[in-house]
Amino acid sequence: MNPLLSVHEVSKQFGGLTAVRRVSFAVEEGEMVGIIGPNGAGKTTLFHLITGFLKPSEGDIRFRGRSIAGWKPYRISRLGITRTFQIVKPFAHLNVLQNVTVAALERSATLREATRVAEEVLEVVGLAGYRDHAAVDLPIGLKKKLELAKALATRPALLFLDEVMGGLTPGEVRDMIEVLKQVRERGVTLCMIEHVLKPIFELCPRTLVLQQGELIADGPTEEVMRRAEVVEAYLGEAISDA
Ligand SMILES: Nc1ncnc2c1ncn2[C@@H]1O[C@H](COP(=O)(O)OP(=O)(O)OP(=O)(O)O)[C@@H](O)[C@H]1O
Ligand SMILES: [Mg+2]
Repeated sequence: MNPLLSVHEVSKQFGGLTAVRRVSFAVEEGEMVGIIGPNGAGKTTLFHLITGFLKPSEGDIRFRGRSIAGWKPYRISRLGITRTFQIVKPFAHLNVLQNVTVAALERSATLREATRVAEEVLEVVGLAGYRDHAAVDLPIGLKKKLELAKALATRPALLFLDEVMGGLTPGEVRDMIEVLKQVRERGVTLCMIEHVLKPIFELCPRTLVLQQGELIADGPTEEVMRRAEVVEAYLGEAISDA
């Protein structure tokens, strides 16, 4: 059996800078994988490469055995691979329901079906009570949920979350962890970049560590976090906000 996703020796160069260097890993259906590493380690770039927002300089990316390296984002999204963005960017003047409906339209046959999917997803993330609010007016915690809702509305099999906990209060982090447990229950495979380590410990049995573009660790979360090179990579970094 092919893994759901396999990344093989993928690199990305920006001029003289190698942002991602020969990274290889595979993700099986149903996994929840944490991705950590210091600022500038190449985490977001890796997500861009897998979801088609950037083309790899080298290497191959396979989804269910089929090479998708260099495909356009809309084609990759149609296969069931979706991501959230580190910087949230809803359609400011649409309301919450409309924002999620637009996302749902990508994989729905009719507006009616898209609206139904959007309503269901708003329930899952706990935004149903805000459906008529303008996206621009939401506080950051709810904007992050909206970003997650938009991603879920495309009904992904594989979802990449780029710092969905960033900027949240401890209470909002706890809340988001519960939402993500529900997302997992719905059979979505998740890969999540976080600087906040608590959600990684709670949600992800496995963690990958990137440092200066290289994958320096890949294994059980508890074990990976104890490794000297991981602790070193994080010295002076975000380990204190765990
Ligand atoms: N489009 C680009 N053009 C040139 N350099 C880039 C581009 N995107 C990213 N980089 C560089 O690639 C490196 C990796 O950046 P990336 O955003 O992937 O890091 P990150 O691990 O997501 O960091 P953070 O934790 O701060 O979000 C950085 O040195 C960054 O400046
Ligand atoms: Mg990033």
